[in-house]
Amino acid sequence: MTEAAFTPRVFSGIKPSGGLTLGNYLGAIKRWVGMQGPEFETIYCVVDLHAITVWQDPATLADATREVAAGLLASGIDPDDSILFNQSQVPAHVELAWIFNCVARVGWMNRMTQFKDKAGKNTEKVSLGLYAYPALMAADILAYHGTHVPVGEDQKQHVELTRDIAAKFNHDYKVDFFPLTNPVIEGPATRVMNLRDGTKKMSKSGESDMERINMTDDADTISKKLKKARTDPEPLPDTLKGLKDRPEARNLVDIYAGLADMTSEAVIAEYAGAGWGRFKPALADLAVAKLSPISDEMSRLMADPAEIDRLLAKGAERAEAVAGPILQKTYDIVGLVRSR
Ligand code: AMP
Ligand code: TRP
Repeated sequence: MTEAAFTPRVFSGIKPSGGLTLGNYLGAIKRWVGMQGPEFETIYCVVDLHAITVWQDPATLADATREVAAGLLASGIDPDDSILFNQSQVPAHVELAWIFNCVARVGWMNRMTQFKDKAGKNTEKVSLGLYAYPALMAADILAYHGTHVPVGEDQKQHVELTRDIAAKFNHDYKVDFFPLTNPVIEGPATRVMNLRDGTKKMSKSGESDMERINMTDDADTISKKLKKARTDPEPLPDTLKGLKDRPEARNLVDIYAGLADMTSEAVIAEYAGAGWGRFKPALADLAVAKLSPISDEMSRLMADPAEIDRLLAKGAERAEAVAGPILQKTYDIVGLVRSR
């Protein structure tokens, strides 16, 4: 079987470990929306089991799961076209993850930079789940024979590990069963940086709220955060090269490009020589125009959590119908007796 024999299928996931940020939106969600349509089957998952690799308060986790689902719907994920669900409702992920725990090598896991960053000096005290996390992510993708995985730059290494796991499984069991998944890391904003420090990634869990744009921020807050974003005193240059060593400036240009569906080169061409007094208000207006309708729609959806649960349940059933047969076949390949 060659790679072409697999149905083109997109899988991606997002953790409900806090509210959604502009980094999630530009690095992942907006691109997930764009991949819907006839070219691919699209499967999008709120990965609650990944979230609990670090402590989550139970009530907060349940709320965040619904809020992330609402964010995806409000951004344009169509639950009739895409399969949208939360991970823990489909046990195939965890079952396949165990098999992959037995395929992946400890040496591979030791090279995962996200684990090293998250564990810091604390490697003895973090959960075993945090260490095994990339094998669960491989299971998420491969339980659906996912061929394309749209993610931000920070997930590249995990998708490469997914390919290594698929290749080793296929080799060890002498099959061509799992596809070699392609990461899809495209566009101007695959790594959105912190608004107060352009060398750090924008994340859900940074210390100060001023560092990030939350998808639930209102228009005034979005505008204030972007106008107060850290920059340097120089005006914008006339080429992207001129932004080298200006991480904060580069980040704002990339955010503009991501929101406006332009390349960063085109943004620079339009604003060459502009000072921040001109560029920042333009960026703030653009961000408000793009994000406010999503945040309004999110609030509307969040008012009816039962409806979100219903959609997630329906999505989980559709997901199960794809993953179930792949899991059964995997058990057969491995030699696990299934007699009931
Ligand atoms: P997470 O919030 O860690 O579950 O990430 C969900 C998705 O958003 C993944 O595809 C990440 O790569 C992407 N993502 C998260 N933060 C950023 C960021 N600052 N810039 C670009 N993509 C991001
Ligand atoms: N690990 C990803 C993150 O931290 C989330 C994730 C879990 C994921 N499973 C996935 C992304 C499968 C893509 C495909 O952002």
